[in-house]
Amino acid sequence: MSENARAESDGSFLKAHLVSKTYRTGAKQVLALSEISFELGEGEIVGLSGPSGSGKSTLLNILGGLDRPTSGTVLVDGVPLHELSDDALTLYRRQTVGFVFQASYLVPSLTVQENVMLPLLPAPLSPEEKEARVTAALEQVNITHRASHLPGELSGGEQQRAAVARAIVNQPRLILADEPTGELDAANAARIVELLSGFAGEGRTVVIASHDPDVIAVTDRVIQLQAGTVVSTS
Ligand SMILES: Nc1ncnc2c1ncn2[C@@H]1O[C@H](COP(=O)(O)OP(=O)(O)OP(=O)(O)O)[C@@H](O)[C@H]1O
Ligand SMILES: [Mg+2]
Repeated sequence: MSENARAESDGSFLKAHLVSKTYRTGAKQVLALSEISFELGEGEIVGLSGPSGSGKSTLLNILGGLDRPTSGTVLVDGVPLHELSDDALTLYRRQTVGFVFQASYLVPSLTVQENVMLPLLPAPLSPEEKEARVTAALEQVNITHRASHLPGELSGGEQQRAAVARAIVNQPRLILADEPTGELDAANAARIVELLSGFAGEGRTVVIASHDPDVIAVTDRVIQLQAGTVVSTS
């Protein structure tokens, strides 16, 4: 986002205003989100909870520029995402957002180091700077000792830590995590949660969709969804 855009913003980092999403398949329509509004500040860690099908993943995808709302606006630094061209939205995803999903989605034929390098390949940085960022990200999630291994040689918890390294290697201001501990045991889940809350401590904004009370417990506040609407925020 440009400095001008930043200057025009009123302080909140991200603002969702009356965001709705309708999925249409043939004659069928599903209203996945209905006029959702909220704001996120820099350095906030926010939980997104609600029953299966309540719209959590749909909302994360829209915040991250993976999908566009049917109506309503998402403003980042005061800039409406829906006014961005496809190319600009791609840049937004690359430079501003880091995604962590339930499954790690590492590329099986690439080493951990190569997987974490992937988001940096198009970045206008020197090869040395890219290497340095990958090294730092691997260290941050404590997976350096597995850097030259393939994902299939890692435990589930290690794979998810590598996926977190890949999500943060571009130093995103917004980290979106969709059930990031869904496939992990309690000890590995706790490590991922600790990492995510550490990113908020660095001033990044973190949104975590989760059913797990231990995950939700570390968040500053919770946006509770039900059938596509916000039923409470705390
Ligand atoms: N691509 C799609 N096409 C049609 N309907 C969809 C699509 N994706 C999601 N939906 C519908 O939108 C609603 C919200 O789905 P979403 O995946 O956002 O829920 P969720 O809260 O993430 O659920 P879960 O906890 O099970 O992951 C659901 O009714 C779902 O069936
Ligand atoms: Mg989901």
